[in-house]
Parts: sequence; structure tokens; C-alpha cells
Amino acid sequence: MRALVTERLVLRPWRPDDLDAARAWHADPLVMRYLGGVLDGAGSDATVRRWTAELQERGYGMLALCPTGTARPVGAVGLGHPGFTSRFTPCVEIGWRLDRSAWGHGYATEAARAVLRDGFDRLGLAEIVAFTVEQNAPSRRVMARLGMRHDVGGDFLRRFTPTGPELPSVLWRIRVGDRGQEESGDACASDRL
Ligand SMILES: CC(C)(COP(=O)(O)OP(=O)(O)OC[C@H]1O[C@@H](n2cnc3c(N)ncnc32)[C@H](O)[C@@H]1OP(=O)(O)O)[C@@H](O)C(=O)NCCC(=O)NCCS
Repeated sequence: MRALVTERLVLRPWRPDDLDAARAWHADPLVMRYLGGVLDGAGSDATVRRWTAELQERGYGMLALCPTGTARPVGAVGLGHPGFTSRFTPCVEIGWRLDRSAWGHGYATEAARAVLRDGFDRLGLAEIVAFTVEQNAPSRRVMARLGMRHDVGGDFLRRFTPTGPELPSVLWRIRVGDRGQEESGDACASDRL
């Protein structure tokens, strides 16, 4: 797929020399604390290769996020299919993970807005979901800023590994007609944030 361009960012397919940047954020316990824990180099490379293959096969997927004028990605934002079965699967999800150095600039929300627009306008999706473990307040704030709605009935328990703990997780949704709700403050009023 073609790159998505925003005011401050370029979201583009992966390149072979991106593996090093992804290894750095996947090795950071703070970045990976709500994503099942750190990945070693081989695990990170396999993840980026899977994202690359999904992009080629489906025409959408997780993209490399680069601030304009830079070549080294500072994170990954894009669409995917959950790798587990739940009441709300099959579905298309939006996800984000940024290097710690890129937090606090509004990059995740800016990138995710472009990904949602692409999902609704180019791909013709009717709905996109997002989910995260309940404690992940920064991720829930991104969902709220995007105008997504918390579907309380969709909350679920998530296991990252077959023997790992079940973690209470929240489900948020946005439908094509919901656009324009961004930054309205309605979703931000939730006391679960
Ligand atoms: C989830 C994650 C992507 C959120 O990153 P983030 O930087 O907090 O989110 P945004 O990019 O939307 O930035 C918003 C923050 O930047 C601040 N900001 C600063 N300058 C800004 C600007 N010019 N425009 C917009 N926001 C700006 C905002 O005030 C906001 O801070 P706040 O949330 O403390 O109020 C990040 O914490 C992360 O990568 N976590 C690890 C991976 C992870 O858990 N992923 C989700 C798994 S489900």
C-alpha cells in the first residue's frame, strides 16, 4: 500500500533496515508492559516480517511511523486482525506502539486518525475496534481522542500466553458514521479512563 501522510508524520510500509529500530522498542519493558512483555531480537524481527507480509497480502496492516523528514521509524500504527477468538472477532482492529522517545507528542493519535480514514474511505470498512488491558490508560486516552466509544459489554479477559494470567481488557469501537466525534470530549468523560 502507499504511504499515509499527515501534518507531521509519514506512515509507510516496512523496509529491511527498520528492523533495528523495532528491536529497540520491542526490548523496552515500558513499551511492552501491556503487550505481553518484551521481545528479543528474533521475536521483533519476526513481528516486523509478519507485518510486512500482512501488508502485502491484504493491502493494509501495521505501518512504520516516521516523523516527516526522518528515515528511522519511531513506532508502528495500523490495522490488523486479532490473533485470538472472542465475542467480537472476526473484526479489524487498530493498534499502536511507539518508542518511548516518541510518547507525548500526539503522534499516536495523529497517525491513528490517518489509519482510520484510510480504513473507512479506501478499504470501505464499516467498523474498526481497538482493545487494550484495562490498566493501559495512555492507550485508552488515544481511543477516546479518536472518537471511539467504549463498548462495556464487549470487555473481556485476555491471555497473552496459554499459561499466562487472564487480564481484564476493554473493547472500544468506531463505526464509519461516528466520524466527527473526535475531541468532542464525550468519550473522555468516561470514569474508566
Ligand atoms: C499508547 C501510546 C501509543 C500512547 O502514546 P501517547 O504519546 O501518550 O499518545 P499520543 O500520541 O496521542 O499523544 C498524546 C499526548 O501527547 C501530548 N502532546 C504533546 N504535544 C502534542 C501535540 N502537538 N499534539 C497532540 N498531543 C500532544 C498530549 O497532551 C497527550 O498527553 P497526555 O495523554 O498525557 O494528555 C504509548 O503510550 C505507547 O506506545 N505505549 C506502549 C505500547 C502500548 O501499550 N500500545 C497499546 C497496546 S493496546
